[in-house]
Amino acid sequence: MDASQQIPSIVLLPGDGIGPEIVAAARTLLDAVGAYEYAEHPIGGVAIDETGSALPESTLAACRKADAVLLGAVGGPKWDTTDPDAPRPEQGLLGLRKGLGLYANLRPVKPIDALLDSSPLRRERIAGTDLLVVRELTGGIYFGRKEREPDSAVDECVYTRAEVERIALAAFDAARRRAGDTGKPRVTSVDKANVLETSRLWREVVTGLATEHGDIELDHLLVDNCAMQLVSDPTRFDVIVTENMFGDILSDEAAMLTGSLGMLPSASLGEDGPGVFEPVHGSAPDIAGTGAANPLATFLSAAMMLRHGLGDPDGAERIETAVERALGSGLRTADLHTGTGDERPVGTEEMTDAVLGAL
Ligand code: NAD
Ligand code: IPM
Ligand code: MN
Repeated sequence: MDASQQIPSIVLLPGDGIGPEIVAAARTLLDAVGAYEYAEHPIGGVAIDETGSALPESTLAACRKADAVLLGAVGGPKWDTTDPDAPRPEQGLLGLRKGLGLYANLRPVKPIDALLDSSPLRRERIAGTDLLVVRELTGGIYFGRKEREPDSAVDECVYTRAEVERIALAAFDAARRRAGDTGKPRVTSVDKANVLETSRLWREVVTGLATEHGDIELDHLLVDNCAMQLVSDPTRFDVIVTENMFGDILSDEAAMLTGSLGMLPSASLGEDGPGVFEPVHGSAPDIAGTGAANPLATFLSAAMMLRHGLGDPDGAERIETAVERALGSGLRTADLHTGTGDERPVGTEEMTDAVLGAL
């Protein structure tokens, strides 16, 4: 190995809206943690404007060669259209996930102590919450056949046994890692098996696998009931495994347990090759350019990148601890500000400086 190969290469995909603001902030943080080589590429709306495609070939090729990819967000009103033939920014993100084979999306939900009063839910209800949503990311209704006629439309939802098996196994592995040597790995599989054929296949496959993997304590919940229990009894959950669209919706809901969508990070992983690390939230067009964006979901995604993508768990922990300290000192971006206690309202830049200072 020559010397240059030892410096991890990170592709930055800032994207649209607040994406460039939060990715730039994350880069300053990463620079304080270690030495990385960066390459920046267009995706989403900016890529449509520059090249006509939401995922230019050169962007996908660069991501394939990188050690890890850090993404901001894509989309915005400029590219919103109901024309089925017009390119959409979101196609860039979906194409990237599919192109890199990133079928497992990990979205950890663990409220930070300092934010227990920032959630719309009562502190005593959310205290102790520590769950992980494992979302299937390259199948289901997102990737089925689409059809549009003037007065009708179709989105097909397909799952294969193999697709369900691999995401269930990813969830089992995650549950085992979380349980450690002493705990019991617990997985809740979420579906709509009372209505959907894909869910009945899902339930059959997950149940069968759990009998082969006797250490896993498995239960099943219908998705509507899960949505309810996430707010009524969030501490009952450990690992939630679910299909693509249910995982999308449930994770935005679960984000509010942490105080804000602006806090939730994610890792999208495949069999091998680079993962994509990105905040769960979108491009927040309503606050883009105002300097108000909460950068912490992106910082925590950078931490997940160090842990899951670059083999640097210590660096990950340094970032996570620094985020906790900045919040512990009372700093709050607008999405977290409750107007009570000794909170200090700040923007993206001050929050970034505080996390840097706490490193
Ligand atoms: P959104 O997540 O962008 O915003 C929802 C609300 O949360 C807004 O009020 C926004 O201001 C707030 N918010 C989100 N992130 C925040 C942050 N870091 N700091 C402070 N406040 C934050 O969802 P939306 O408005 O429904 O979607 C906007 C665009 O983003 C759409 O084009 C959508 O397709 C896209 N989107 C992209 C991704 C992604 O790139 N991964 C994810 C979700 C939505
Ligand atoms: C997410 C987003 C994306 C999704 C969109 C932008 C395609 O909402 O990452 O959660 O639905 O997967
Ligand atoms: Mn989403």
